Amino acid sequence: MSVITNIEDLKRIYARRVPKMFYDYAESGSWTEQTFRENSTDFDEIRLRQRVAVDMSGRSTASRMIGQDVAMPVALAPVGLTGMQCADGEIKAARAAEAFGVPFTLSTMSINSIEDVAEATTKPFWFQLYTMKDEDYVRRLIERAKAANCSALVITLDLQILGQRHKDLKNGLSAPPKLTPRTIANLMTKWAWGIEMLGAKRRHFGNIVGHVEGISDASSLGAWTAEQFDPSLDWGKIAKLKDMWGGKVILKGILDEEDARMALQVGADAITVSNHGGRQLDGALSSIRMLPRIMDAVGGDIEVHLDSGIRSGQDVLKALALGATGTMIGRAFVYGLGAMGQKGVTTALEVIRKELDISMALCGEKFVGDLGRHNLLLPEDFSCRWV
Ligand code: GLV
Repeated sequence: MSVITNIEDLKRIYARRVPKMFYDYAESGSWTEQTFRENSTDFDEIRLRQRVAVDMSGRSTASRMIGQDVAMPVALAPVGLTGMQCADGEIKAARAAEAFGVPFTLSTMSINSIEDVAEATTKPFWFQLYTMKDEDYVRRLIERAKAANCSALVITLDLQILGQRHKDLKNGLSAPPKLTPRTIANLMTKWAWGIEMLGAKRRHFGNIVGHVEGISDASSLGAWTAEQFDPSLDWGKIAKLKDMWGGKVILKGILDEEDARMALQVGADAITVSNHGGRQLDGALSSIRMLPRIMDAVGGDIEVHLDSGIRSGQDVLKALALGATGTMIGRAFVYGLGAMGQKGVTTALEVIRKELDISMALCGEKFVGDLGRHNLLLPEDFSCRWV
């Protein structure tokens, strides 16, 4: 196997191994994919300031996110259908994160259930919540996450209505894949994936099937969100969910200063600046471009994490230098998982840590907490102050 030096290498292997339907699911943005693209390309507009002749011995990428020690401030983001990218994908990703010392977030729309992941790990993980119309189901889901000792509830706010990703509709995305002549032809070229999948603990939405009446196996995310997600989620309901949970709450999907202020008012422990990886509102600004404005609005008062577009340690450094306390990676770990299972997630994390460590050193910084805007060169109009 060729030497893996960056996340793109993992993506190439991932593309060969995983069925097209699930590759496309991860690799899509909504509609024209402008926001999906800009989430990454906007990082390129930020340049790093090289500094020299600073003693770089004894440096560290270790830090804290919501009061928890982390080997580097990079959490694994909640990604739906992770267990379709690789058999028992959520278990493998959670184990890799635990061994590495970074938080893992389990999606409501996961394949492995909350209980599966709790059983396979020894440290608390974060649980991501989508709210459903069935309030009793939501209450039970929260109870299950508490029983599993999850250490944070990540409430996603930017997907009560699903953005349209053309490829998912064209591919008839479902878990498990429906067998049509087209999917069978593609699956026949992905035999290693298929053989592993035959031995998987689950092949459908593990937090849902068996927990909601009238729901059986093969289901698509599209059908689910249309039927079950609660489009009426508002700040009042968020406050109630927070009370019901009673522990640390991270509000994910904040992309506007006003919403950041609201999150502060409801007493969230952290916000995640995110546009859902460009999968929801196409035409929205990238997360990294919005970060300085949100930091200016609430930065000193609440912990801010940055999600969407991170594919390297240099990207992590830029987000931290703009004031984020932590970051989330989604696709970057999914590529590793689909390419090489648990080892691939570890490799993705190692790649990012090495890039972060070396880039910090070349910027003259030994510790994450010392990073700041002084490490960056930003175009004057980077945060787009339109009227
Ligand atoms: C769900 O979280 C998705 O983006 O598909």
